[in-house]
Amino acid sequence: MTLRDWTPYSWKSKPIKQWVDYPDQEAFESAVSAVSHLPPLVTSGEVERLRTELAGAEDGHYFVLQGGDCSETFDACSPNTITSKLKILLLMSYILIYGSHKRVIRIGRIAGQYAKPRSQATETRNGITLPSYRGPLINRPEFTPEARTPDPENLRKGYGHAAITLNFIRSLISGGLADMHHPEYWELGFVNLTERSREYRKIFQSIDSSIHFMEVIAGKMDQLAETTFYCSHEGLHLPYEITQTRQVPRRKHWYDLTTHFPWIGDRTRQIDGAHVEFFRGVANPIGMKVGPTMQPEELLDLTKVLNPRNEKGRLCLIHRFGANNVASKLPPLVEIIQREKRNVLWVCDPMHGNTQTTTCGLKTRSFDDILSELLQSFSILDRAGTHLGGIHFELTGENVTECIGGARGLTADDLYRDYQTDVDPRLNYEQSMEMALLIAERQASKRR
Ligand code: PEP
Ligand code: CO
Repeated sequence: MTLRDWTPYSWKSKPIKQWVDYPDQEAFESAVSAVSHLPPLVTSGEVERLRTELAGAEDGHYFVLQGGDCSETFDACSPNTITSKLKILLLMSYILIYGSHKRVIRIGRIAGQYAKPRSQATETRNGITLPSYRGPLINRPEFTPEARTPDPENLRKGYGHAAITLNFIRSLISGGLADMHHPEYWELGFVNLTERSREYRKIFQSIDSSIHFMEVIAGKMDQLAETTFYCSHEGLHLPYEITQTRQVPRRKHWYDLTTHFPWIGDRTRQIDGAHVEFFRGVANPIGMKVGPTMQPEELLDLTKVLNPRNEKGRLCLIHRFGANNVASKLPPLVEIIQREKRNVLWVCDPMHGNTQTTTCGLKTRSFDDILSELLQSFSILDRAGTHLGGIHFELTGENVTECIGGARGLTADDLYRDYQTDVDPRLNYEQSMEMALLIAERQASKRR
């Protein structure tokens, strides 16, 4: 996929959205250069393995679970937060494997999800206007001119925190955290008492008995201790992405080695824009968000630019319309992709089309809306003769109160208890587990 008219810098001649202006250009260039000299965060071998697995998901052999924070913070680079995020994704993945009988590709919105697109470039409070908060890779959330001024030092910090996070994840996994012989490792502190937790325990008892049964017959299965885990982030801040975009020995393609799976956001997916130009040239599997303004012909053209050879495993369409819009918006897009035989993996993000603001001004999402968009997406894609290949959540392994609903019936009044996010509201631990159980139930009923 080495393209003759593409270079890691060809995006610079295209119009760019969400650009960051650094007042101190010299410091910016020096930070970019410093990070460019550091080793990549992931390897091309890992990226190629993910691409092969995603091709398998297009054929229906794997299912994608992508999840994590809307915006990671540098403070969240702590042992407990990383461990609980990894655990919740592992737990959800085992529930989904149980329900779907498919292997699950786990992709965290983690180890680099540090840059945020904003609808408004500035924010005004009490007559004072400052640049919007753009994520820790760029500035800080406090409402002061110092905090909101883009600081190039954050590029080094972002790389460093991503590296530390990844290092810890790799160690946890190689140290046996994901070993299916030890489901007790996955317990999160606050064991809940809802009806759902009994279902979850039943599933894990059943997995445990199956493992024992198989090992009596076939001997100890060491592969149950192995797992793969990938990281992803929105490829928003191109100067950061190019610091690790390189060709590697014995491979002819260019790779963006800041992460395994970068995605293009809904605000930066213009066909003649800088982000599409950059990502068309790197060989990683990529995602593209598909929101309500996407037109069928536009989507078709984008798939041709981003995946000119129509290869499987290259392009995931992460659609996010909202529970009220998915039934009208998704079918025409699926129809054109099917008709033109474009290879894509459909992944539903049921979060970003379902954001609402409470009367008190807090951003939230309802569990029922999220579930509804997911269930509708499964049915729409089935009816069109294809399938939903994955799900994309904003979630956390902590017991926060940011989304309403779920078995515990959180209401708008509960949101104040533990509302932590700087940007979008996330499903908490219990809500995430419940979501996985409900999807697994749907997948199991389809198999029967
Ligand atoms: C996000 O994933 O946090 C996000 C901003 O999504 P979108 O580009 O779909 O709005
Ligand atoms: Co978000």
